[in-house]
Amino acid sequence: MNICTTVEEMRQLLKPARLANKSIGFVPTMGALHAGHASLITAASKANDITVVSIFVNPTQFAPNEDLDNYPRTFEQDVKLAANCGADIIFKPDVACLYPAGDPTWVEVTGDITKVLCGKSRPIHFRGVTTVVSKLFNIVGPTNAYFGQKDAQQVQIIKKMVRDLMFDIKINAMPIVREEDGLALSSRNAYLSPAERKAALVLSKSLTSALTAFNNGVVNTQQLLNQVIDSIQSEPLAKIDYVEIYQLPDLTACQAELARSNLLAVGVYIGKTRLIDNIILEETNVVDNA
Ligand code: PAJ
Repeated sequence: MNICTTVEEMRQLLKPARLANKSIGFVPTMGALHAGHASLITAASKANDITVVSIFVNPTQFAPNEDLDNYPRTFEQDVKLAANCGADIIFKPDVACLYPAGDPTWVEVTGDITKVLCGKSRPIHFRGVTTVVSKLFNIVGPTNAYFGQKDAQQVQIIKKMVRDLMFDIKINAMPIVREEDGLALSSRNAYLSPAERKAALVLSKSLTSALTAFNNGVVNTQQLLNQVIDSIQSEPLAKIDYVEIYQLPDLTACQAELARSNLLAVGVYIGKTRLIDNIILEETNVVDNA
């Protein structure tokens, strides 16, 4: 496996594959890789001739008060995990490589899709994500790119960016990988104390019980939201950032009764750690009581 740090190296390394019309699978990450990332890398390597994984803790998607400096960095372990999952190339640029000096050029998806959910509490976050992902897409030139449904809003925003900017790349959204007890895997789970780790289960539990209610015929949006809010508020270590439902794909407002495909998403502080999770409520799952 190759480890590259510069744009020029990446272009040279990928040139033969491009000339031979080989498919390139790409998994962008910020490192601290876990089984969630592993599922994306494995899917990419199964479906493509060459698999590229980027590891870059992107400063522009962190606000000054966020955890950029403390974000876990575990490069040696990451290399092993990526290699075991079939990665051929790791791209590990430094900040100066992706952000040349001078006034920045931004790629920004506008509208409600970037303003709701995580966009409300992290106003500059998605502009940072779309900017860095555009740069990485231009460097790697993938056929397929792989993103986790764990960051459901990110997936929809990237899909819109790809459509609007005519990137010739297929975006593959992969299911959320969870611990056995239901906690969605996240690099930030490493921040949790044992008591917080237990408390963090409230995210997946509240979402699962809302899904059960929905599948049993509860389609009232507010009722479902209240159920999740009550459940999270019953956990003393949890503080709600948001509990919201939007229609997929563009995260538009829902009617009083849910129809079609909807994203129920939560952002919750467990102690100082902000965790997110989500579930899709799909009309076809609803029991027909008629
Ligand atoms: P990061 O948080 O490292 O996540 C990289 C990819 O792994 C994302 O697509 C994310 O949704 C996916 N992922 C994380 N946890 C997952 C889980 N439990 N199950 C399935 N997939 C999971 O997301 C980012 O990095 C950055 O914003 C990035 C896109 C790299 C841009 O900087």
